[in-house]
Amino acid sequence: MRQAGRYLPEYRAIREKTDFLTLCKTPELASEVTVQPIDIIGVDAAILFSDILVIPEAMGMRLEVLESKGPVFETPVRDLTAIRALKTDGVIERLNYVMKAIEATRQKLDGRVPLIGFSGAPWTLATYMVEGKGSKSFEIIKSFIYSEPAAAHRLLLLLADAVIDYLNAKIKAGCDAVQIFDTWAGILSPWDLEEFSLEYIRYICDRLETNGAPVIVFAKGVNSFQKLAGLKCDVLGLDWTMDIGKVRAEIGTKKALQGNLDPCVLFAPKERIKEETEKILAKFGRGSGHIFNLGHGILPKAPVENAQYMVTCVKQLSLKYHRPSEFTL
Ligand code: CP3
Repeated sequence: MRQAGRYLPEYRAIREKTDFLTLCKTPELASEVTVQPIDIIGVDAAILFSDILVIPEAMGMRLEVLESKGPVFETPVRDLTAIRALKTDGVIERLNYVMKAIEATRQKLDGRVPLIGFSGAPWTLATYMVEGKGSKSFEIIKSFIYSEPAAAHRLLLLLADAVIDYLNAKIKAGCDAVQIFDTWAGILSPWDLEEFSLEYIRYICDRLETNGAPVIVFAKGVNSFQKLAGLKCDVLGLDWTMDIGKVRAEIGTKKALQGNLDPCVLFAPKERIKEETEKILAKFGRGSGHIFNLGHGILPKAPVENAQYMVTCVKQLSLKYHRPSEFTL
């Protein structure tokens, strides 16, 4: 997550000349920054450089990514009239630059590592579209689902349909796996989580034409893995608040597990980075189905050499737990 981000001087050099959205919309540049972490930190998969908010942008919402505030929608969607005004036809055509970036990235990767494409989940997309920007308390989106549940469901359903088309198009364009990010799933009560988040992730997973591409679901802050294990997906992402060993024991071999290292561990001294990395490998234990990753996006101030060191630790230490023969694709 944010594999190609501001912690890399090579990324910042490109961002100095190009604003964030232009970078997303220029296949040559998007593919260049996608490949940077493969060469620089040695990860085993590339994640296509883009943002989850390109879907609402393609529906006609004006998006700005401000240095100080993160992403901002000038005119948030707060009622049925605004939902009806969203341009749901032609979204995938307007996102054709993403498909072009996938093709350019595949050429640059030349088969070295697989390419992961992603989308925001409907709930997280709706959160930004209704709030208009990041939030701490989420009172605007929560007021919306409580006072206008029918309108909220209408928005979530149109987003779910767009996500299905978008991820199917990404797989067709050459992504080897796709990930659904529900970054704000964890702010909901168990029953609201079911109604406003998981229901739509389930709807999407049931309708993807994966053609064999694994589907990864990351519902940040959700600790009921039994519920997630019922989804038609292949991999579940974990943030750092869960014990990966316990989750594995709870859901068995139904899903591969990914994530779990607190991104702030990359600020620790090297010995501690190694210890924390091995802790996760040991807790997962032996056998296949483990994708080592951070539990959320890499932070802009993370030292590059610590990210490199963590990757080296994973490659060396994991040999104890996973036979290389298990990795053959
Ligand atoms: O190379 C990669 O790893 C692709 C990276 C990626 C970005 N956004 C690039 C990005 C991914 C997977 C996303 C998804 C995304 N975007 C999510 C879901 C995952 C998550 O991180 O929770 C969310 C919630 C967003 C919305 C978003 N976009 C936020 C909250 C921000 C601001 C973050 C910040 O640090 O200010 C963005 C902007 C953004 N998206 C940046 C990057 C590299 C930083 C922009 C910059 O270069 O200035």
